[in-house]
Amino acid sequence: MSNKRQILVTSALPYANGQIHIGHLVEYIQTDVWVRYLKLNQHEVYYVGADDTHGTPIMLRAEKEGLTPKQLIDNVWKEHKRDFDAFGISFDNYYTTDSPENKELASQIYLELQKNGLIAEREIEQYYDPVKEMFLSDRFIKGECPKCHTKDQYGDSCENCGATYAPTDLINPYSALSGAEPVRKKSMHYFFKLSDTRCEEFLRDWVQGLAQVEATNKMREWLGSDDEHKLSDWDISRDAPYFGFEIPGAPNKYFYVWLDAPVGYYASFKNLADKIGLNFNDWVKPDSTTEQYHFIGKDILYFHTLFWPAMLKFSGHRTPTNVFAHGFLTVDGAKMSKSRGTFITADSFIQTGMNPEWLRYYFAAKLNASMEDLDLNLSDFSARTNSDLVGKYVNIASRAAGFLVKRFDGKINDAAMSHELLSNLRAAQSNIGTLYESREFGKAMRAIMELADQVNVFIDGNKPWDLAKDASKADELHAVCSICLEAFRILTVYLSPVMPTTAAKAYAFLNIATQNWADINVPLNSSQAIN
Ligand code: MSP
Ligand code: ZN
Repeated sequence: MSNKRQILVTSALPYANGQIHIGHLVEYIQTDVWVRYLKLNQHEVYYVGADDTHGTPIMLRAEKEGLTPKQLIDNVWKEHKRDFDAFGISFDNYYTTDSPENKELASQIYLELQKNGLIAEREIEQYYDPVKEMFLSDRFIKGECPKCHTKDQYGDSCENCGATYAPTDLINPYSALSGAEPVRKKSMHYFFKLSDTRCEEFLRDWVQGLAQVEATNKMREWLGSDDEHKLSDWDISRDAPYFGFEIPGAPNKYFYVWLDAPVGYYASFKNLADKIGLNFNDWVKPDSTTEQYHFIGKDILYFHTLFWPAMLKFSGHRTPTNVFAHGFLTVDGAKMSKSRGTFITADSFIQTGMNPEWLRYYFAAKLNASMEDLDLNLSDFSARTNSDLVGKYVNIASRAAGFLVKRFDGKINDAAMSHELLSNLRAAQSNIGTLYESREFGKAMRAIMELADQVNVFIDGNKPWDLAKDASKADELHAVCSICLEAFRILTVYLSPVMPTTAAKAYAFLNIATQNWADINVPLNSSQAIN
């Protein structure tokens, strides 16, 4: 098949120092719906993810819990995997950045960049905790705000007056880890020379292919005008003690977590490729004809549209086909908050007994292709999902199936399959497909619900419950019920990227195989009885 595309898709790798919450799920559900739609069209699609396991916070948390970092990340991996499975996130591989593949790929990329003259070594001075014997990043230094003099503020900004500053500006700084007064200490660091004209020229060109105007605008802001040369070099090393990969040729220096995290996409894919016998290199070489997409939140755009493509480009790899950024989830109009009880983890949602596919539908109905934030309104959630999914969709089957089973042995009336209503439903296929493909899921859900409305109008107009009382109207009853069930089948295929488990149950009930997108045009027939 010549139009069969080969597509690698990723979602951002969640940190292994916390639980999956419904904000994260916006992203994994968005990606999963897109992936499922492409798979229904029988493209060769691989969706990979992994836990993002390295860095100081994970090292410190493990220490606090009396675990090794490896034990901690193994435990968290199991929880994350459980949550993704519960919400039907269909990763083809869910891996970890703390893997041999990732160590190898990160080292390889680094060495290629070095060979290309894009790694610089510079000594920098930083705060150092003499008790803990480690360098302190901004978030582990506290002190008095140099501007408004509020005490106990973080090293980068003041929560009281909003001032931003360097940690060295703090008055009476102290280590948030030991309370000790930090000392200044010099150390050699390794930088990726993003300021190099080769990187700038490449990125100016690459930005033109970005799908979202908001992302393009952000990039233009970061790049500045041609003569501004605004990009600065990126510090990719950290001193021991650090949980991560040691830098080749630099003992006691480790890759900063954000260096090996995006490489983790490739490491997860390589791990999968080796398992299933795919040629990894064909997918990542510069002239690869495959497609590569990264779904991310708007907060990590910088890493995915500057560092990552430049790292790939100058280490002899292909670059991403596109990066799709989404906005942030708020709950009842505000940032999720533990104290307001709106910090909802994936697991706590499951524990309430609510159907996870209802959340998938709700998010799909709110998502579009932009970076706008979206809100989960807790009082609207059940009402909306119930009225759409039960009231409009499930009811179509409930209102017709009983009669068909009791009166017609569960068999479809074949002649009714060309009814105008069904032609209308099938005719929406290309529009709904385009909306899925372009990540306009909200519009897709509205289009599908409008079709469901049409079917309900048809049922109300034909009143099968009245037809059933009149023996002479048996043929009509048979046709009406058959039309309803075929309509239900078509709507199910349309909804299946969003509600795969619901769809599987519907197919079992209709006694048909799992449907692909093309099956929309293959009606039910009388050879099989519905269950
Ligand atoms: N570990 C990094 C990503 C590395 S990718 C090579 C990270 N992890 S995260 O756990 O903080 O976030 C994972 C993803 O979830 C990010 O894309 C982030 O934008 C997204 N979200 C986290 N909270 C969110 C909301 N409240 N709403 C929507 N998306 C959110 O960043
Ligand atoms: Zn202040």
